Amino acid sequence: MPFTGIEVLPPRFANLKQEIAASYPKFRERATQAWREVIAELQEATLEIAKAGSESIAQVNFADLHKLGEEEIEKIKRQGSVVIKDIVPDAEAIRWKQLLDEFVKTNPDAEGTPVNDKQFFQLYWTKSQVEARAHPNVLAACVWLNHLYHTKDGGVTEAVDLTTPLTYADRFRIRHPGIGWNDFPPHIDGECRDQACNYATDRCIGGAIERWEDPIFRECFSSILSGDWRSHDPYELDGRLNASNSRYGRPNQSSVFRTFQGWLALSEIAPTQGTLRVFPNVYLSNAYIILRPFFRPTVAAGSAGFLNPENWELGTHHAVVPGLFLIDPSLDISSSEYPGIYARDGGYTGPRLTPEVHPHLELEKTMISIPKVHPGDAVFWHCDVIHSVESEHTGTDDSAVIYIPAVPLTPINQAYIERQRETFLKSQRPPDFPKGPGEEAFAGIAGPDDVVAPIGRRAMGLPISV
Ligand SMILES: [Fe+2]
Repeated sequence: MPFTGIEVLPPRFANLKQEIAASYPKFRERATQAWREVIAELQEATLEIAKAGSESIAQVNFADLHKLGEEEIEKIKRQGSVVIKDIVPDAEAIRWKQLLDEFVKTNPDAEGTPVNDKQFFQLYWTKSQVEARAHPNVLAACVWLNHLYHTKDGGVTEAVDLTTPLTYADRFRIRHPGIGWNDFPPHIDGECRDQACNYATDRCIGGAIERWEDPIFRECFSSILSGDWRSHDPYELDGRLNASNSRYGRPNQSSVFRTFQGWLALSEIAPTQGTLRVFPNVYLSNAYIILRPFFRPTVAAGSAGFLNPENWELGTHHAVVPGLFLIDPSLDISSSEYPGIYARDGGYTGPRLTPEVHPHLELEKTMISIPKVHPGDAVFWHCDVIHSVESEHTGTDDSAVIYIPAVPLTPINQAYIERQRETFLKSQRPPDFPKGPGEEAFAGIAGPDDVVAPIGRRAMGLPISV
């Protein structure tokens, strides 16, 4: 069934809206005020984002990470995205690309899509991937990204060690010029596609309906729901560490906490060459997305004034859901719709953002392509950032990346790493990923002895000495 942007979920999700509303004092007044303020701010911000374009996306040199000023760090945090240049030497990244090319040529049975012109592979343990993930500079960049997060009181918590990076094994892509990829519209990770499609960054810390449904995860967004949306801090760890971001155990949904998703470039990739696009203001997009299910337009979509905040009100889209118990009948929030969230695989996926149901984001103009990167550069984006992939690749060369997120040490993450290590030792697919054949029959896969640096071995859950 084609995705229309709004799907009617089971009635309990209407009850959930009621419960959320009832748990915040003066929800009607405060949420409405916040909604109008967010829209007003978006109207300015979207103009600026569209005008600034790709070159406005933060770009820093790996060697300068520890010299960045407060203003540069604030920009990275606001955008939720950053290009870190020269994490590894160009020659090293180019060698990894050559090894991957050889690997897929030597092992034509390796699963990949599209089937008649494989570009995205169900491979996790090639030497290039294992070496790249374990590279001390890559892990140092991840540690730096992890430290953009903090606890509410600024103190240290035993629940997370931001200084010890862990390795989350994911896949790679070698995208060919001229081939359209149309399956990656604007979304926040947590959105999963069918297993034949597989886009590595669909493995999320974000969750879908869990943003509202899980009480701990919801805490991450409590200032937005309380109306004090300007106090929202997407870098606060407290709610994220224990959040249930995969309540339904769907495949293709990450069970670890990742501070940033990312990929390391193995080739040059410029705008229009099939690169990543982001909505570069994670504070505003979070505020808008979290409040959106509680509001409806009072004028027809596309009509004059459709975007005017005065023409939106707290309320439902459809008739009252049968069986709904209204905690507060004065709050007309009786629909079970959460725009952008839809059922999939026995659970829920999304948020997927569309111009139709998230009109104030002006997505046609504000999804900004990442500026040109070179081999050895990487792009990282916060787990809440709206992102998409350019459908066209108009370049002349492959656009190749290995997906490598930033993962701090937490008890849940460590437990995952230990299960992942067992799959590595058997050359099987990592636990979070679609089931399928392992890689033991393929020539050129890595083993534990290929992970040399102590920081890389620790990140993989391997004994420090080889
Ligand atoms: Fe994604």
